[in-house]
Amino acid sequence: MKGKNTKKLIAALMGVAMGASYVPAMAPATVSAESAGVEGTVVYSTDFEDGDVSMFSNRGSDDTTVISVSDEASVSGDKALLASGRTKDWNGPSFQLDNGVLKPYTEYSISFKMKGRYYTGGMVSMQYTDLDGKEHYSNLVQNISSSDWVSIDDLRVSFHDMQSKVKIYVEGGQDDIFIDDFKVVELKTPEIEKDLVSISDAFAKDFKVGTAITVGDLSSKPFMALLEKHFNKSITVGNEMKPDSVLDKEASQAYVEETGDDTIPQISFSTAKPILNYCQKNKIPVRIHTLVWHSQTPSWFFKEGFADDGEWVDKEKMLLRMENYIKAYFEKLIELYPDVDFYACDVVNEAWMEDGKPRQPGEPGNGNYEKSLWVEIFGDNSFIEPAFTFARKYAPKSCKLYYNDYNEYMDGKMNAIIEMATDLKSKGLIDGIGMQSHLDARQSLDAAFPSVSMYNKALDKYAELGLDIQITELDVTTPENAPTDANFDVQADYYKGIFDAIYAHKDSISAVIWWGITDNKSWRANKYPLLFDAEYKAKDAYYSIMEGVEAPPVVDEPDPDPEPADADYGDANGDEKIALSDSVLIMQVLGNPDVYGVDGTGDIHISEQGMINADVANVGDGLTNADALAVQEYLLKLIDKLPKE
Ligand code: XIL
Repeated sequence: MKGKNTKKLIAALMGVAMGASYVPAMAPATVSAESAGVEGTVVYSTDFEDGDVSMFSNRGSDDTTVISVSDEASVSGDKALLASGRTKDWNGPSFQLDNGVLKPYTEYSISFKMKGRYYTGGMVSMQYTDLDGKEHYSNLVQNISSSDWVSIDDLRVSFHDMQSKVKIYVEGGQDDIFIDDFKVVELKTPEIEKDLVSISDAFAKDFKVGTAITVGDLSSKPFMALLEKHFNKSITVGNEMKPDSVLDKEASQAYVEETGDDTIPQISFSTAKPILNYCQKNKIPVRIHTLVWHSQTPSWFFKEGFADDGEWVDKEKMLLRMENYIKAYFEKLIELYPDVDFYACDVVNEAWMEDGKPRQPGEPGNGNYEKSLWVEIFGDNSFIEPAFTFARKYAPKSCKLYYNDYNEYMDGKMNAIIEMATDLKSKGLIDGIGMQSHLDARQSLDAAFPSVSMYNKALDKYAELGLDIQITELDVTTPENAPTDANFDVQADYYKGIFDAIYAHKDSISAVIWWGITDNKSWRANKYPLLFDAEYKAKDAYYSIMEGVEAPPVVDEPDPDPEPADADYGDANGDEKIALSDSVLIMQVLGNPDVYGVDGTGDIHISEQGMINADVANVGDGLTNADALAVQEYLLKLIDKLPKE
């Protein structure tokens, strides 16, 4: 087998967002003649010549795969790992990443060679177990197909400490699988630019600056460092708080089975938990996105018995489900995260079309982006008001309610939103408008859509409503797959125009949230829409919006270990003399600290320095009656100096 022409498969160079519940189907892996050169430290490597396969296992108790070492095939040396006895497609050899050798929050590049006994096919995938014990899977390389050894090169993987049993594995078919030359390289963690002015600090007095993230982002140290520096005032959970992540089909069906009641959907925040835990730990306020939406909402939610093959339910039942869903959503969130500040919620997302009409009835997806199952059930947009009514009823008071949409600057849609919002406002049901702001810089400022003036006009109109505005999903695309200086110049100029318009409306805007941080992790990665590049460097767009922005004055942190201040012993009230009034003040502070103490409400109350000055008997024991007495003794010349020895 040695010296055979090995096919090289460059896989997942795009970087795999481990743990994202949205794993985009990858294009069929490309076959190339070159292996990707990867720099870093090799932390684990084996060609199986020593017979050790202890780092590998099958995928768990139901997996019949037997892992052994074999000399029937190999690339280097004489031996390879052999996975035999596979009886299910999903059976396979796996390598556990959180094995004590690899560290969380670190990027690794994994490479190996694989071969089927008869034919090399299948997929390379990854799995992990979340905080609630649920398993998640994602495919890293699909459509492997060869009659020979296939080289899997440079799989980028990382994990965080809220994931466990993180495994990379080979699956597909039931053929025996050989693996050889398995190597794990730890990549150097890039530094972020620490000297840049923080965006969120720079605008802290105007509005919250934040970003959306998905669970996979948590495992990248530099990415999270950028978040902590520039976007730390608000987090939106990019996918994991949407209906399709939160609505729990199995539990909902089980509940129907148990009770016969199919109006109470069951919900779970399992997938969102790592992000919410992060927000809790770091005290970052959260925007809830989103409750009622045509997209990323499972169709079983609208069907009798929550069954895939059920009939559509009627409006009455759907209203009951909607109320129970929104109720459970907030109850569960508050129960799990009582001290997270859920300050805003997109109650309804994207309900109006550009012509100002509701969506079409029917199932969305497969090109039917204009369809909505809410409209299927309700016949029109009459589901919006109950959604806000229930959100108002069950959301915490501090959680403001928004209608959120894209193309929110186009006349037809804008007028429909304004009409709807005016009505909801008169009923006290809405607090604000979320302008998604997925904008397109194109090739020149003239071609950009929307134009800056069109966007500015929309801001004027929404501000006139007297409701709050939040910019909820800001990103600015450039032409596809064309990361040229020229395109980034246009993007920077356009960002500047848009940001100036936003800033001019700052009195009506409470938050500006980007839809991501680095281009490569954007949902529109091939259009480079964000402020930072894949190397975590600020792009021209960052500098353009920060142009002329002064770094906010550094607020002196209180000195944790202050030098003792010089005391002016006896002068409790700070009038630069020692008198009976000092003794009186000491007694007042002791008798009525609420009025005369350091934080007292009285016109005359003791200062911090006064407290030090007044501690004249047994220095260091704080204020006592002995201090008042010592001041009097001094005034009566019974002692000749303060503090009293
Ligand atoms: C996007 C996510 O970023 C993607 O990962 C997902 O595949 C589709 O949804 N408007 C919204 C967001 O309100 O929820 C969308 O997020 C982007 C458009």
